[in-house]
Amino acid sequence: MYISPHANNYVQNAIMELKVFADYTSLSETIARDIISLVQQKPDAVLCLATGDTPKLTYSILTARAAKEKIDFSACKFIGLDEWMGIPSFLEGSCSQFLHQYIFKPLRISPAHIHLFNGLVTDAKQECEQMDAFINAGGGIDLMIAGVGINGHIGFNEPGVALDNYSHVIDLDASTIESGYTYFTQPVNLSQGITLGMQHVMASKSLIAMANGQKKSQIIKAAIEEEPGNHLPVTVLRSHPGCKMMVDAEAAALINKAGIS
Ligand code: PGA
Repeated sequence: MYISPHANNYVQNAIMELKVFADYTSLSETIARDIISLVQQKPDAVLCLATGDTPKLTYSILTARAAKEKIDFSACKFIGLDEWMGIPSFLEGSCSQFLHQYIFKPLRISPAHIHLFNGLVTDAKQECEQMDAFINAGGGIDLMIAGVGINGHIGFNEPGVALDNYSHVIDLDASTIESGYTYFTQPVNLSQGITLGMQHVMASKSLIAMANGQKKSQIIKAAIEEEPGNHLPVTVLRSHPGCKMMVDAEAAALINKAGIS
């Protein structure tokens, strides 16, 4: 890490902390360590872990360390952040399949401790209500790991989303659909997602929003410097007191660092 760990120097009125890492590996190592520390302090933590390319290395490091150091995740509960509507949970590319491959299988998590969205539901309202109830019953989310979307979405809270939403179904942005296709190995139709709402994101006791690579540099600049609002949901995280935005140097490259002490 090489820039002031406190973004408050140059993000006016922000509570969120910005941490910039030299590279993707050190970023991922730190986030894996943060997740493990939380679970060591609170073995029955409620975790909501994003899917996508960004956290893959974090999860590989996490599960390798958990095996080596015998870190016990067996009492943790796992909440799904989002899912593609119309996509079966077993299909490679679905959020569910990702989490099973990268987290649940390596950590041997009991199915009783996993609550994910089912993208094939016919009654989406009921699916959303069940998710909201599961989160409430678990006492809320202790830690959410969110990847920052190229369009500023968090989960599938796309630009323009209602900020007072809990779980809901949403029409996906063209850019989300385009990057979504890259996760699938067979042809699929993507148009809607089911997601936790910004109310869940903002109510998470701890929140790590992560991004890496040059392709995220524009959105990370906007996340830090633009007026907060639902036009870019990631900007709203700046008022979350337990939020850390953790990015690598490539993703941070366009941030105006004029005010850094
Ligand atoms: P990515 O996706 O991690 O694959 O870049 C992040 C997102 O769009 O939420």
